[in-house]
Amino acid sequence: MVESSSDVMAPPVETHTVSIDLSQANRTPPYDIVIGDNLFANAGELIGQRLSARRCLIVTDTNIAPLYLKRLEAVLDASGHTLLPSVTLPAGESSKDYVNLHVLLNRILAAGIDRSSLIIALGGGVVGDLAGLAASLAMRGIDIVQMPTTLLAQVDSSVGGKTGINTDAGKNTVGTFYQPRLVIIDVSALDSLPLREMRAGYAEIVKYGLIKDAAFFNWCRAHAGKLLNGDRAAQIHAIAASCNYKAQVVMADEREAGERALLNLGHTFGHAMESATGFSNALMHGEAVAIGMVMAFRLSAQLGLCSHTESYDVRDHIASVGLPVKPPALACGVDQLMALMAQDKKAVAGKLTLVLARGIGKAFVAKDVRETEVRAVWAEFL
Ligand SMILES: NC(=O)c1ccc[n+]([C@@H]2O[C@H](COP(=O)([O-])OP(=O)(O)OC[C@H]3O[C@@H](n4cnc5c(N)ncnc54)[C@H](O)[C@@H]3O)[C@@H](O)[C@H]2O)c1
Ligand SMILES: [Zn+2]
Repeated sequence: MVESSSDVMAPPVETHTVSIDLSQANRTPPYDIVIGDNLFANAGELIGQRLSARRCLIVTDTNIAPLYLKRLEAVLDASGHTLLPSVTLPAGESSKDYVNLHVLLNRILAAGIDRSSLIIALGGGVVGDLAGLAASLAMRGIDIVQMPTTLLAQVDSSVGGKTGINTDAGKNTVGTFYQPRLVIIDVSALDSLPLREMRAGYAEIVKYGLIKDAAFFNWCRAHAGKLLNGDRAAQIHAIAASCNYKAQVVMADEREAGERALLNLGHTFGHAMESATGFSNALMHGEAVAIGMVMAFRLSAQLGLCSHTESYDVRDHIASVGLPVKPPALACGVDQLMALMAQDKKAVAGKLTLVLARGIGKAFVAKDVRETEVRAVWAEFL
């Protein structure tokens, strides 16, 4: 449904539940993603209704611990859960490594966890990916509940069961598919999130509209301002729509043999830019994806797959929320960026496979995209 930005009456704030059922594909139990305002206050109840585990171990990071850890511990204690000593990892992407995985596994095992216990990941994608990997490995698998606190984690990384760490071979090169037992998304956690992080997460929300749902893209155009300014109803609507979309894709294709690849819209261009900036603070993942989506639509228009008007609509909306639409100054040129794109793990047998679009909401996986066309787009954007 497309709503106008001039709506005076905000819809009442509700709790949404999206369910993921992969039981036929891999026998993991179905799980709920519960989305709402102030849900951490109900975490004990939400967990207790679904899972019998009483012993819980919370994994978080140094930024999130002072904000939410004590409150969550109190809530779980009040609902009759026994808390094992929490683990607070250093905040930041650099924690997604063997060293912190090792530390985390040792702490989990030293806490006396058993297979009927529960790990709770309270944090952004870094905590979620690391705790998810540790949960899949400790005692051959301990149940995990994801409680994502960044917008990116709420719409993307906490849903779908991918876990991982970074190695010398690249980002997320060691990991597992390990579905959580429950995802609790409390939008009030977004109040403490810096605006730049909010915008980066928003890029992944827009992505869902661009891939498959033009009406949702129009909704985004009308509501992005409210969402980024803390409007609860807009946040819940967008997060529920995104989780719903990701859930459908994951159910159709958990292991990325087909449709899940569409989620990489903007990501092959984006990863090349992230590599070129050394995965530094100069360009956040969501920002790189935002630019990458603009480039993918530009390339699609150049190839006659979609109209130039649509490609400008994408660019203009992304720019309107304060996300970049061109790369920052990069130390490397088109040749190196092309090499980085070919290296991306999504490149199959050396051929450039890219997610392109036949219009807004009509993304598809294009195989054998001609290198000259891709070079021309880089040259235009640099
Ligand atoms: N598993 C998947 O399917 C998947 C998908 C997308 C991304 N990822 C991974 O997710 C990671 C990125 O996630 P991210 O963007 O959440 O990064 P992050 O976990 O590093 O969080 C970003 C920053 O925000 C802080 N933070 C978190 N919540 C906060 C809050 N409520 N208030 C204030 N500060 C808060 C964190 O401490 C950190 O400094 C990457 O490692 C990426 O590979 C995984
Ligand atoms: Zn992404």
